[in-house]
Amino acid sequence: MGPATMLLRGFALPYVPELLLAITNIEAASPFRHMVTPGGFTMSVALTNCGALGWTTDRRGYRYTSVDPDTGEPWPMMPTVFARLANEAAAAAGFDGFTPDACLVNRYLPGSRLSLHQDKNERDYAAPIVSVSLGMRATFLFGGDARTDPTVKVPLYHGDVMVWGGADRLRYHGVMPLKDEPHALLGSQRINFTFRKAG
Ligand code: SIN
Ligand code: FE2
Repeated sequence: MGPATMLLRGFALPYVPELLLAITNIEAASPFRHMVTPGGFTMSVALTNCGALGWTTDRRGYRYTSVDPDTGEPWPMMPTVFARLANEAAAAAGFDGFTPDACLVNRYLPGSRLSLHQDKNERDYAAPIVSVSLGMRATFLFGGDARTDPTVKVPLYHGDVMVWGGADRLRYHGVMPLKDEPHALLGSQRINFTFRKAG
């Protein structure tokens, strides 16, 4: 897929029980919500965050904040198990010493999609992006450095971890509309965590 991209099939499977428990706590403090893009579209993916910084969007733009704009409280702390998983996956992909300060949690239902975009609101592009998938299968689109570059389709399954950084750090990516293929553990949903070094 790229010189600095690695797909670690099933890497997160041992962490699943702890991850699911952690989500319950995160969403109790900072519920999933459908944010609005600067262009005025409501995202079909519902999202929340944990960690010192959380990614948000509204009519004024995309940015990281230390406070959840919906609750006025800091985002929930990043559970240690999250940071450990992200650090170990990054190391397995060749990025040692990854210490994420932001974890964006996306929830997809059947029909939810994410249009092609770059992750570029982070201060430092030296750190990779670590993306963990749980639940229903998704078709991930991985493109190039320009929006119009061709994309490859990558199926992502429960427990898969994808890491991209270095020369691949700013590649366009997105998710095709999810099909309803209920997952044994999570039913008709997909949860994705993306870990970043944002600040
Ligand atoms: C993202 O690009 O923020 C999420 C990717 C995914 O859901 O796999
Ligand atoms: Fe992204």
